[in-house]
Amino acid sequence: MPFDPNDYAARGYAIVPDALSPAEVKALRARADAIIDAFDPEAAGAPFTTDESRRAIDRWFLESGDRIRCFLEDVAGGTRAVNKIGHALHAHDPVFAPLSTAQRWAEPLRAAGLTAPRAVQSMYIAKDPGVGGAVAPHQDTTFLHTTPSTVTGLWFALADADRENGCLWALPGGHRAGLKRRFVRAGDTTRFVELDEAPWPDDGWIPLEVPAGALVVLHGLLPHKSDANHSARPRPAYAVHFVDETAKWSPDNWLVPA
Ligand code: FE2
Repeated sequence: MPFDPNDYAARGYAIVPDALSPAEVKALRARADAIIDAFDPEAAGAPFTTDESRRAIDRWFLESGDRIRCFLEDVAGGTRAVNKIGHALHAHDPVFAPLSTAQRWAEPLRAAGLTAPRAVQSMYIAKDPGVGGAVAPHQDTTFLHTTPSTVTGLWFALADADRENGCLWALPGGHRAGLKRRFVRAGDTTRFVELDEAPWPDDGWIPLEVPAGALVVLHGLLPHKSDANHSARPRPAYAVHFVDETAKWSPDNWLVPA
């Protein structure tokens, strides 16, 4: 057993050191760099939050569930740094896909309670020095919903992640408080449905500082966030989200899985 399931049930996350070898970390980073280097925002028709309509931005996102697309940082001044690559690296990318299979991660996924895991979403998060923005507190189940709730995230550190370069922060045990909001889709429009208006607590957050190659298993209801990268080092990570095939996929999820 890679981690104690009781511990995971109590805290809502588990850390598995050395889940990826240094060679695998290097290969994933090189592959992501190649995708980003080949990305020409204008040729691809990628919208910018600074100068494109909300509608174009929504479309770029909503069409990405079964594709590999780059998303830009939302930074003033029109920088074109890539924020992330999503959302079907696990399905279509020759380097990311083999590392993303449920079979390879069956053991930690089983420890997290998934008996029939299926990868439905993946993203490479660049979090470059200076431009890598903060991620507001959220639960992954807000964006990927099943009944019962089964969403489980595998988050791989592709560099040492610490407080300076914007590591994950989690609210241990916060997954037991239920789902706060849902992000639902109707055709080409999306909206948030608030289920619990109480604000996120200010206290109780802890930094998940992990070395490169570590895996953080995240319960889909666990509140988590990250700060902007204030260091001179990148903080790349790769996240794959799984659901259990025995659960009912909510048809109003934004994502149409690959
Ligand atoms: Fe998340």
